Amino acid sequence: MTVTRRQALVSAGAFAAASSLSLSGQTQSAASDAAEAEPVCLSDFEPLAKAKMQPMAWEFLNAGAGDEVTVQWNKEAYQRIRLKPRVLVDVSRVNTRVTLFGQEHDFPILLAPVAAQKLVHPDGELGAVRGAGAAHAATVLSSYSTTSLEDVAAAAKIPLWLQFYAQTDHGSTRELVQRAEAAGYRALCLTVDMAVSGARNREARAKVQLPPLPSGSINILGSKLDPAVSWKDVEWLRSFAKIPLLLKGVLNPDDADRAVKAGVEGIMVSNHGGRNFDTVPATIDALPVVAEKVAGRVPVLVDGGIRRGTDVLKALAFGAKAVLIGRPYVYGLGAAGEAGVTKVLNILQHELQVAMALTGSTNVASIDRSVIWS
Ligand code: FNR
Repeated sequence: MTVTRRQALVSAGAFAAASSLSLSGQTQSAASDAAEAEPVCLSDFEPLAKAKMQPMAWEFLNAGAGDEVTVQWNKEAYQRIRLKPRVLVDVSRVNTRVTLFGQEHDFPILLAPVAAQKLVHPDGELGAVRGAGAAHAATVLSSYSTTSLEDVAAAAKIPLWLQFYAQTDHGSTRELVQRAEAAGYRALCLTVDMAVSGARNREARAKVQLPPLPSGSINILGSKLDPAVSWKDVEWLRSFAKIPLLLKGVLNPDDADRAVKAGVEGIMVSNHGGRNFDTVPATIDALPVVAEKVAGRVPVLVDGGIRRGTDVLKALAFGAKAVLIGRPYVYGLGAAGEAGVTKVLNILQHELQVAMALTGSTNVASIDRSVIWS
């Protein structure tokens, strides 16, 4: 999106105006509690969501593997990276558009797949995808969606991507891919960082129970996850999928290289938000080595710990073509349904515009290591 300085100021004003509306549906006077204060940045949504969510759902959303060290690292690693500002560049126009697999996106920010969203809000995935549509953002739907992929597609203004896991039952995987293609999904993300389920201690303590899935969906948790998944499965998927295939959950640059050689069209550097394997590195620490190995052969995306527009800028500088956010939009959903998701995205999009302007970056393609203070 090309944004003039005036539009940026107007849109900042719009945020201020919007912020006088109560997301929780309560009046301003009732919102004296700090937890009810209007959110101005992504972390402000957390207490709002917590106040509305069932404790078990809250634990599910926040859980990480083991001691949750990687969950922390994902965020802290961004905070350690310093930016190098640039002054006296004409930033009256900042163009945030990117093209991925022929699909143009107003911002390089997508929603990551998050399972079982009806646990968080009765509108579930429909609320998330409508909220994303209002913010012109694309969504990657989880195959553990509590709404059918066809119903989510019908509610989506921006074409969707579908995430899924390798199943022991190849027939159901093929069927899922074909349903996604028929419903107009534009890309497939095979999540490869969960060959087995990790030490999900917090989920075990909270006795997390996921809600039932709509009929026709595949059950990805439990015995059907395929621990024998291998590069052969990637090649098999490639042999019949008609839309681009990305691998989600790559940290090792050698795996990224192998993936490109196996014909995948994109790589998502991800550690599953620190949910499955503790003490693997922060994704922003893995991104530069993966991007270097991939060397522009396919787009590299990244998720994990992105909470600020400056984080998005840093990820782009280290070689990502776009980023995805997970927990932050789900906090928005929990706090205020689809309006909350839109607001989370609008804040992050605006913060990215500001970060680009203050580093003299007038378009996404121009963002490189020169914005990093090394
Ligand atoms: C996830 N994630 C995830 N990933 C995936 O490939 N399939 C899935 O079904 C889920 N489900 C899921 C549930 C919940 C509650 C969370 C928080 C995350 C991981 C997700 O796509 C993404 O990689 C991380 O959430 C990114 O990290 P942040 O943004 O949450 O820090």
